[in-house]
Amino acid sequence: MQNQKLRVLFSPEAISQRIQEMGKQISKDYEQKEIIVVGVLKGSFIFMADLVRAISLPLDCEFVRVSSYRDGKVSGKLDLLLDLEPEKIKDKHILLVEDIIDTGNSMDFLIHHFQKHSPKSLKICTLLFKEKMLKKNIHPDYVGFKIEPLFVVGYGLDLAGKLRNYPAIAVNEE
Ligand code: IMP
Ligand code: MG
Repeated sequence: MQNQKLRVLFSPEAISQRIQEMGKQISKDYEQKEIIVVGVLKGSFIFMADLVRAISLPLDCEFVRVSSYRDGKVSGKLDLLLDLEPEKIKDKHILLVEDIIDTGNSMDFLIHHFQKHSPKSLKICTLLFKEKMLKKNIHPDYVGFKIEPLFVVGYGLDLAGKLRNYPAIAVNEE
């Protein structure tokens, strides 16, 4: 696909099976509660779509977007490009949904941002976790797969904007 040499790490079937398990766990943990599921754009959009359908609870879907410090930005400073109204966060059970946690910089920034608006609870769900790369004190509550420090693409994750539509999660071996 698109002239890339890709080695599949997780097939669509494996991803789907894991997401069903995560959805069951989340539904159990938040039983009798309403949650606001907040996807971090753009990478989480495919995962989010499958995850919310695996959760059997009343829920709202919201999205935020954080500027990427990888796209040629040297400052390392993060900004919110898309935010939520504070009343969507206050006294609500918030579940933040990421495609991948690498250094943890983006998630650390988001956690601080959400805490400022006094949620009733705040939990982190990530499909992929590069645990060995983590530079922040973050403990994701739900992790799809822990992976080695490799650059992965597909299932929402991009390489310079492309390959988000590749249905599996793969390592780019170019
Ligand atoms: P972090 O702030 O270093 O944890 O990285 C956060 C963001 O970097 C993720 O949400 C992704 O958008 C991107 N990213 C990190 N690792 C990968 C990867 O292996 N493939 C594609 N995007 C990645
Ligand atoms: Mg992301």
